[in-house]
Amino acid sequence: MHEFKFKRNNLYCEELKVQDLAKKFGTPLYIYSYQTLLEHFIKLEQAFRSIHPLICYSVKANSNLAVLKALVKKGAGLDVVSGGELFRGLKAGCPPGRIVYASVGKTDYEIEEAIKSGILFFNVESSSELKNIQHIARRLKRRVNVALRINPDVEPKTHKYITTGKLTNKFGIDFKTAKRIILLARGFSHVKISGLHIHIGSQITAPEPFVAAIAKVTRFISRLRKEGIILEYLNIGGGLGIIYDKETPQTALKFAAKILPLLRKTGLKIIMEPGRFIVGNAGILVTKVLYVKNTPKKKFIIVDSGMNDLIRPALYEAYHNIVALSKINRTEKADVVGPICESGDFFAKDRTLPKVEEGSYLAVMGAGAYGFSMSSNYNSRRRAQEVMVIKDKVFVIRKRETYEDLTRNEVIPAFL
Ligand code: LLP
Repeated sequence: MHEFKFKRNNLYCEELKVQDLAKKFGTPLYIYSYQTLLEHFIKLEQAFRSIHPLICYSVKANSNLAVLKALVKKGAGLDVVSGGELFRGLKAGCPPGRIVYASVGKTDYEIEEAIKSGILFFNVESSSELKNIQHIARRLKRRVNVALRINPDVEPKTHKYITTGKLTNKFGIDFKTAKRIILLARGFSHVKISGLHIHIGSQITAPEPFVAAIAKVTRFISRLRKEGIILEYLNIGGGLGIIYDKETPQTALKFAAKILPLLRKTGLKIIMEPGRFIVGNAGILVTKVLYVKNTPKKKFIIVDSGMNDLIRPALYEAYHNIVALSKINRTEKADVVGPICESGDFFAKDRTLPKVEEGSYLAVMGAGAYGFSMSSNYNSRRRAQEVMVIKDKVFVIRKRETYEDLTRNEVIPAFL
C-alpha cells in the first residue's frame, strides 16, 4: 500500500498533484510520501510488537537525512555500513545505542569512529576483522560488543547480485568457523561477542528462505547455550520483498507469524534491518518526456532521467512500473530510455505504455529504495532534487545539484 494514487485521472502523492510538483520543482524529481514511509515502519513494529524488536532501518536503501530523521523520531534504530552512513545517522539524531554497523570491509578509521560514538554493536564478518576491532578497542581503552554475521548457506531465490547468504558469497562466517571464533574471542579483553547476525539477501518474497536461515541459526544458538555460551542479541537482517510488478510478497503479519515462534524460542533480544520494505514504495521518480523517437524497429520514449538517477533496471534488469501523471487510455509499445550514452540506460523495454507526448511527464514507481542512494554524477549529470510530501504540504529535502557542485572538489594543478 502507498499514498501515490489516481484521483480524477491525475496521480497524487498524498493530497498533492504530482504534476504540480513536477512543474514547480522540475525533473528529475524524487517524491516521497511521509505517510507511506511511516506506515510501513509501523506495520513491522506492530506485527512484531509481542517481542519488541529494535528495528534498525537500513540506511543504504535511502539515506536522506529527512528520511532518517522521520524514522528515528518514530523509534527506529539504524543499520549502517560505512563511516558516511554512521555520520548521517548521528546527524539525523539517532541515539548511537540504536545503531548497528555491518560491512565486510570496515577500515580502521571507520571502526575507530564507530567505537568512539558508542554504537550498539558491529556485525563482524571475519576473524581478521574481529582481531582488528579488538586491537583498536584496546588502544581506545573501550570494551565493544559485536555480533558475528553468520552465513547460513540458504538460497533466498532473488537476483544473484543481491543474494548474500550462500557460502559462495563474500558475506558472513560459516557455522563451524563461527564456533571457533566464539571460543577464540573468549580470550579477548576488549571485544565481547554478544550476538549473531544474518542477512541472506534482498527483495525476498517468500517466507521459506527466512525460516530456513533463522531455523539454522536458532539451532546454533541452542548448541552454544548447552556449552555455556550465552548471547544477548539475534539480528535477523533485512530483505523483505515488496511489490514492483506482480510479486506477491508476504505481509508483515504473515512474516511475523512464520518466524515469531522461532525467535521467541531463542529468548534473545531481536534486531531487524529492513530497508526496502520501509521506503521502497514510499518514493517515485518523476521524469519528463523529452522526445519520442521512432526507428524502423522500435519506438523510444526518451526522458530526462537516466541510469545515473535510478540504476536498478540497468544493474539488475529490475522492473519498475511506469505511469503517466494524467491517465491516458491509448497505449503503445515502447522502450523508456534516458539520455546517457549507454544502451543499458533504460527504465523499461518493450513495455505497453500510455501514449505520451513530448513535454509530458512519467512517474517511475517504487523508486524510494536504492533509487537516489545509488545515483551518481555519470555523464556529469547533476543529481536529482528530492522532496517529501506530508498531506498537502511539500518540503525540499535535497536541493538539486548545481554545475558548480559537480566540480567542487576538483583541482587543476598549477603546472597545467
Ligand atoms: N542488512 C544488511 C546487512 C544489508 O546488506 C542490507 C541490504 C539490508 C539489511 C537491507 O536489505 P533490504 O531490507 O532493503 O532488502 N541495491 C539492491 C539491493 C541491495 C541490498 C544490499 N543490502 C537493489 O536495488 O535491489
